[in-house]
Amino acid sequence: MVAILKEPFPLLRPMQVDDLDQVTAIEIAAYDYPWTHTIFRDCLRAGYNCWVLAQAVEVIGYGVLSVAAGEAHVLNVCVARTHQGSGHGRHLMRRLIDLARWHRAERIFLEVRPSNAHAVALYHDLGFNEIGKRPNYYPSKRGREDAIVMALELLPPED
Ligand SMILES: CC(C)(COP(=O)(O)OP(=O)(O)OC[C@H]1O[C@@H](n2cnc3c(N)ncnc32)[C@H](O)[C@@H]1OP(=O)(O)O)[C@@H](O)C(=O)NCCC(=O)NCCS
Repeated sequence: MVAILKEPFPLLRPMQVDDLDQVTAIEIAAYDYPWTHTIFRDCLRAGYNCWVLAQAVEVIGYGVLSVAAGEAHVLNVCVARTHQGSGHGRHLMRRLIDLARWHRAERIFLEVRPSNAHAVALYHDLGFNEIGKRPNYYPSKRGREDAIVMALELLPPED
């Protein structure tokens, strides 16, 4: 029997300049204070780890990770609204953690809004711990919002 897949399985691949229109459109729909096309382009130019989750030619999510001096930082992770709640965010985060480990980072950090309950739940579930707060870190409709700083200690990759 031949199984016919309605949608191709999403694949993770490095982000390219050609992806930036789709990435920026997802970003604008997902965040009240989105990154711009220029910020994503600068991340690519800076050599950050920029990855997209793509279903054929459609980008459905992305993640941006910086790694320096044994520390990794998740700078952005996002799944297109219409694809949220299907496990893609967890998949993206797991791959970013793998990447950090592969780059020999000893820990991985991220910041998240306390109001972003889904993201906070996901990060806790992946083993991140809250290690502090950055007061008034984010712009918000009521002025500013604190950031929760979270971290995950990483074991080195198996050789
Ligand atoms: C946060 C985000 C990346 C999660 O991606 P996602 O694909 O929707 O999440 P997943 O389907 O992989 O779910 C992973 C976990 O997130 C949490 N979660 C996701 N959707 C949820 C919902 N509707 N209600 C409660 N928890 C939810 C749960 O812990 C879930 O684990 P479970 O499936 O075992 O219950 C996504 O919602 C997103 O892109 N949001 C907008 C951008 C953003 O806020 N990025 C994070 C900035 S710090």
